[in-house]
Amino acid sequence: MDRLLISGGRKLRGVVRLSGSKNAALPTMAATLLSPGRHRLRSVPDLQDVYTMGRLLEHLGAVVTLTDSAALVETSGVEGFEAPYDLVRTMRASVLVLGPLLARYGRARVSLPGGCAIGARPINLHLAGLERMGAEITLDRGYVDARAGRLRGAVIYFDVPTVTGTENLMMAATLARGTTRLENAAREPEVVDLAGALSRAGARIEGAGGSVIEIEGVDELAPLDHTVIPDRIEAGTFMAAVGITGGEVLIEGAEPGHLDAVIAKLGEAGIAFQAADGGLRVTGPERPRACNLKTMPYPGFPTDMQAQFMALMSIAEGTSVIRETIFENRFMHVAELKRMGAEISIDGSVATVKGVRSLSAAPLMATDLRASASLIIAALSVRGETTIDRIYHLDRGYERIDEKLRSLGAWVERIEPDSGRSGPFLVQRVGDEGRGHL
Ligand code: EPZ
Repeated sequence: MDRLLISGGRKLRGVVRLSGSKNAALPTMAATLLSPGRHRLRSVPDLQDVYTMGRLLEHLGAVVTLTDSAALVETSGVEGFEAPYDLVRTMRASVLVLGPLLARYGRARVSLPGGCAIGARPINLHLAGLERMGAEITLDRGYVDARAGRLRGAVIYFDVPTVTGTENLMMAATLARGTTRLENAAREPEVVDLAGALSRAGARIEGAGGSVIEIEGVDELAPLDHTVIPDRIEAGTFMAAVGITGGEVLIEGAEPGHLDAVIAKLGEAGIAFQAADGGLRVTGPERPRACNLKTMPYPGFPTDMQAQFMALMSIAEGTSVIRETIFENRFMHVAELKRMGAEISIDGSVATVKGVRSLSAAPLMATDLRASASLIIAALSVRGETTIDRIYHLDRGYERIDEKLRSLGAWVERIEPDSGRSGPFLVQRVGDEGRGHL
């Protein structure tokens, strides 16, 4: 199992290019199930979760080719409709095939994803919406078993703005009979990106990015041909890393419009931002200032940046109060940060962080994707060697982050077990030796 060795205390300096957004690439890959033909998705990040989605699409009968930054998906041969547990349990976003399979084939059998480290992660809102569109859904031995004739348009209200719930039902609605209205929809840039990809393939979608999205069903869609947006959470992660080391970095590809809340909050902490050609120049302070935080659905501060922000606050001047409102167990990074000397107390969904002058190196263990990033950020501030175990969590959502950090002057080394594998993937990625299949 790979681990990272980090020797911190160095300011980050230089230029880093963002990868495509994981949380935009995954729904767009699922959307290829809506129509036959050759779909072309560019700027797809080289991540374990993308690989898993590719395997799932191949399991359903598609032919998937992943190159260094693109996904070619041929779906004419899709005839399966089952997303098996052994794939879904490793990636919850597998649930995104539910809407497209039902819309295109009238049949889907998708394993219930089960909980994960950060929370129960129910999909009741996905299922309730599909039932309102005419699907018959039963739960059978841990699987969602769904059947439908042609789905029909409906008005669907989400109790909470669910990102993948909005995406699943938006995709289902593109081929339904009539018009679907999603109310209290998620407003994330990844939802807008998916709507753009679908619209260019012939879908009729209005209002994506707002709380009400209207989709007028059509009879068929063309194959997707789309470039995925940059990863705003990767951008925020690098911003927090610059903030904690006091460096200066140009983050190429960063879209300020996707990061208003993050820029505002990190600005309050003393990080300076300057629009620069094709990205954002970020400058860290001598020492960050403590500030309070509450995670909210977009356009509020993203829950996916909470752990990274907490690492920054752990050495800030003053005390910060961080409230996590989206997931019920997203403080898994706290115990590890405390082992580095952070002074953090938790009361329910609220963490109080008393900034210390400096943390100390310690052997650490990653527990989930964003907690891993949090530990890296903390370790970058510490002289001395910190090791982080179980970084397979990290490889799910950050493309070669150790290489990117090294290019900014950080001392980060990936230590592989005696397997001698060169990276996180079990199967050799298709790279410059030409195309291949998963
Ligand atoms: C998406 O997850 C992201 N994943 C998550 O990113 C992100 O943390 C989350 O949105 C919130 O922004 C992808 O886009 C692949 P939700 P999702 O449905 O869609 C409750 C990362 O680190 N809810 O928006 O699964 C749910 O329990 C990952 O990249 C229901 O109650 O999250 C939560 O409290 C982690 N019933 C809230 O809604 C439902 O049917 C928001 O969850 C669905 C959700």
